[in-house]
Amino acid sequence: MAAKLVIAGNWKMNKTAAEGKALVEALKPLVADICPCQAEIIVCPPFTTLSAVVEAARGSNVKVGAQNVHWEKNGAFTAEISADMLKEAGVEYVIIGHSERRQYFGETDKTVNGRIKAALAANLKPIVCIGETLAEREGGVTAKVLETQLAGGLEGLDAATVGNLILAYEPVWAIGTGKTATPEMAEETHKCIRSFIASKFGAAAAKSIVIQYGGSMKSDNAEALCAQPDIDGGLIGGAALKADSFAELIKNAITGRKG
Ligand code: PGA
Repeated sequence: MAAKLVIAGNWKMNKTAAEGKALVEALKPLVADICPCQAEIIVCPPFTTLSAVVEAARGSNVKVGAQNVHWEKNGAFTAEISADMLKEAGVEYVIIGHSERRQYFGETDKTVNGRIKAALAANLKPIVCIGETLAEREGGVTAKVLETQLAGGLEGLDAATVGNLILAYEPVWAIGTGKTATPEMAEETHKCIRSFIASKFGAAAAKSIVIQYGGSMKSDNAEALCAQPDIDGGLIGGAALKADSFAELIKNAITGRKG
């Protein structure tokens, strides 16, 4: 079975609890007719907005994710949040290793690996982000960079676990810049990620793992991106902050996937 389509909104440091609730209330009717077999829909608000959004999304097809999780269960880790805390808050997914965490907050492949394991132990579904910088792409080392991130990030995981993961390929130069990778360019990289997964974890894991594209995905390019055979959805920043643009993007992604 090929991977399913998964569209996740990464709200980053945007939306208070009241604003998040309003966004989800506006989104729900716009996507009510979409079944999970067409697309899994996820929103990832900031920690303090989670409870309000979980409440607003209850009973709908909109699922909720957090933007980070700590690798320890509890302890003296000021400002960190554990997987059990997220689980208790009603969260199902968690973004791990976003390039902004790697760039500004010292995230490494080793900490990504610890966070993934903690999330899985609490039955949270990780959305694991990887991606190269512009200098790395121009230097011709994209594949090497992604392989290093994957090898370190997924270390110690078995094939069945990897097959159930969501990866988000997000070229750093495309995030928030309006510069999207062309569908062909993104597909080439997704194919390379999938073959790396096949070589490390086997063909079945490579087939079922969800590989999202992220980086200036919008309603007008979602169809062409998701029409690519190895692009299984998107991790969306800016375009996920408004209900109508996010709903339109999801519908276009579904159209693209159907071919
Ligand atoms: P963007 O962000 O869609 O605003 O480029 C994507 C992301 O960082 O997840």
